Amino acid sequence: MSIRFDKQKKRFVINTKHSTYAFEVVMDRYLYHTYYGKRTSVLPDPSYQVISFAPYLEGYDESRSPDVFPQECSFYGSGDFRPNALRLNSDGTGVCDFVYDSYRIFNGRVALDGLPAARADENTRTLEITLRDDVCGCRLKLYYTVFADVDVISRYMVIENVGKSDVKIEKCMPLMLDLNRSDFDMISLYGSHCREVNYQRAPLHHGTQSVYSKRGASSHQYNPFIALCSHNANQERGEVYGFNFVYSGSFLDEVDVDQRGHTRVLMGLGSDCFSYTLGAGERFCSPEAIMTYSSTGIGTMTHHMHDFVRAHILPPSALAPHPVVLNTWEACYFDIDEDRLVQFAKQAAQTGFDMLVMDDGWFGMRNHDRAGLGDWYENKNKFPSGLASFVSKIKAEGIQFGIWVEPEMVNPDSELYRAHPEWALRVNGREPLRSRHQLVLDMSNPDVVDYLIAQFDKTFKGIEIDYFKWDMNRHMSNVGSAAWPEDQQGEIFFRYMKGVYRLFDWFASRFPKAVIETCSGGGGRYDLGMMQQGIQIWTSDNTNPYDRTMIQASALIAYPAATMSCHVSNPHENLRSLDYRYKVAVGGMLGYELNILNMSEEVKRDIAAQIAQYKSFEHLMRAGDYYCLAAPYEYDYSAYYYATPDASELLLTVIEKAGNKKPQTKRLKLKAADPEKTYVDCQTKKQYSGAELRDGLVIDLTCDYDSAHLLHFKAL
Ligand code: DGJ
Repeated sequence: MSIRFDKQKKRFVINTKHSTYAFEVVMDRYLYHTYYGKRTSVLPDPSYQVISFAPYLEGYDESRSPDVFPQECSFYGSGDFRPNALRLNSDGTGVCDFVYDSYRIFNGRVALDGLPAARADENTRTLEITLRDDVCGCRLKLYYTVFADVDVISRYMVIENVGKSDVKIEKCMPLMLDLNRSDFDMISLYGSHCREVNYQRAPLHHGTQSVYSKRGASSHQYNPFIALCSHNANQERGEVYGFNFVYSGSFLDEVDVDQRGHTRVLMGLGSDCFSYTLGAGERFCSPEAIMTYSSTGIGTMTHHMHDFVRAHILPPSALAPHPVVLNTWEACYFDIDEDRLVQFAKQAAQTGFDMLVMDDGWFGMRNHDRAGLGDWYENKNKFPSGLASFVSKIKAEGIQFGIWVEPEMVNPDSELYRAHPEWALRVNGREPLRSRHQLVLDMSNPDVVDYLIAQFDKTFKGIEIDYFKWDMNRHMSNVGSAAWPEDQQGEIFFRYMKGVYRLFDWFASRFPKAVIETCSGGGGRYDLGMMQQGIQIWTSDNTNPYDRTMIQASALIAYPAATMSCHVSNPHENLRSLDYRYKVAVGGMLGYELNILNMSEEVKRDIAAQIAQYKSFEHLMRAGDYYCLAAPYEYDYSAYYYATPDASELLLTVIEKAGNKKPQTKRLKLKAADPEKTYVDCQTKKQYSGAELRDGLVIDLTCDYDSAHLLHFKAL
């Protein structure tokens, strides 16, 4: 049983395959967190320490203060001065104080009212803890949904207003974890457009360290994923706690080290971009956050995250081979039309591509990025015979068809904006700021979402679309909505995301055979919320293979290769050979963005061979276990491999980094190889024993700035 309640001790114990999580009800009201770590049956009892200036209830002393002991959820204004998980305003003070009421353990999980949520399977179990605050008239339900096989526990909360008046939620952090130590490094992923997910690792310090987004998207700037690891942790050694948020909008991750050197981790919606008025009888579901623990290094934490994302987050269609696409963006930008793209499709089909993806520029007056967004019907100059006829010509070439959309945005120069200026986010009396010449549609307004549904339904009627690339190319400023009253304006960021998820759900049900790739100027929404909607994410607009080596290696800490859309593109051909660019791109799901009409027959033959080779091992990246041997943010080269769980196949990639002027020889230990097996290198046909591969494979890296190795081993 993954969840147990010890009645005598009033202790809840959650076990995953390799971890244990425990807390107890103390003083008949508080939830005292006692343990999260390596799986054990020996659990510590609560211990108390007297700390002056700590407020306590009558009949107790400072040692029983909520400011002192580790808790499961903390409430603003109720004696815990550390960053709080919840602030509820029923009387103008923001003070709330929930006390333990009851619990329930059940199979499966609860749905989250229109938010993405990890998929339960037959082994999923949930612990529900109910607390109540009779003063503010609310019930709080804390959820622990246990994915025991993949060592993940997810946390979310539901607030029910059972009183008679409105209550305002002013801060909401569904994941709170108190640890009675602070000798950790924090790993986070920061960046910017074209420079996403840079690895950062720094020791914790007293005070609060945070990563966040106030941009309305999870953002290029900070990814919601964070980890805490012991100072000595590396890929194979040390303790690591990993956290992530199943949400795509503004967020806050806080890590606080308090007066006693104890650490509190909080993950959720924060307070800057979130408030929510809960009327009498209403309920609010928070998004879900997840946590995992590894006692065997960062590599194991990564395995837990990858296994969880593949089994419980990605849509089942992501588990089948992803199509190898030829995307028109970097080849054509806005310069597309029917004749040109039918030629693209013909050549693409002959070269072995699965799909042509028509990127931006096909609709309205979209001849550049200053006009047309919002006008979701085909541009008749570019597609004179109509979209349906064009798509049938593409299909007649024997290739699938994908199309780009950016539903959440509008150009002021568009028919939609001229008809409905009130449908863009704006604050009364203030000029809305522009970004990429566009404004953000008010997805919190159900009329806007309904309109988009009706328009896309009309435009794509009877057309067999196999793939949508869903983009989002600006962040939100001056966030206000004409659709909501003044006292609910704080809800817009959150309601916006629910509108976006509703539209995604409509696309998924209206086009059940189509898959979705999500994108936000590359990796601006590289998060678990989007992964539930899309089979993969356009990792970055930066396709320079050197930069991509860094970006992909960092993304892989938290997200499996199945989620990374990686293209070979043209702009860097002077810097790197096609072979090098390909070997970087097969770090994830392969595609190409180049002008196939200008290509020599020789290059087309090379690409055809690359696609065929990729298809022989793509299951390893999509479904295999990932092992990082040398991360490029720590070493002067990059080396990693994938292994099938039964160790029957291995795929090793070694990439030379730019600027390395000396030849190097590396000995790479493929410890996932089975010592009892004999492997053959699929290209050279040379044989190796598993023991030899485990002991170390010698790889030479030359100093020509273009050295990349890809070795596929199969057990005989
Ligand atoms: C940003 C995306 O990241 C690109 O791949 C491309 O789709 C453009 N938008 C189109 O405007």
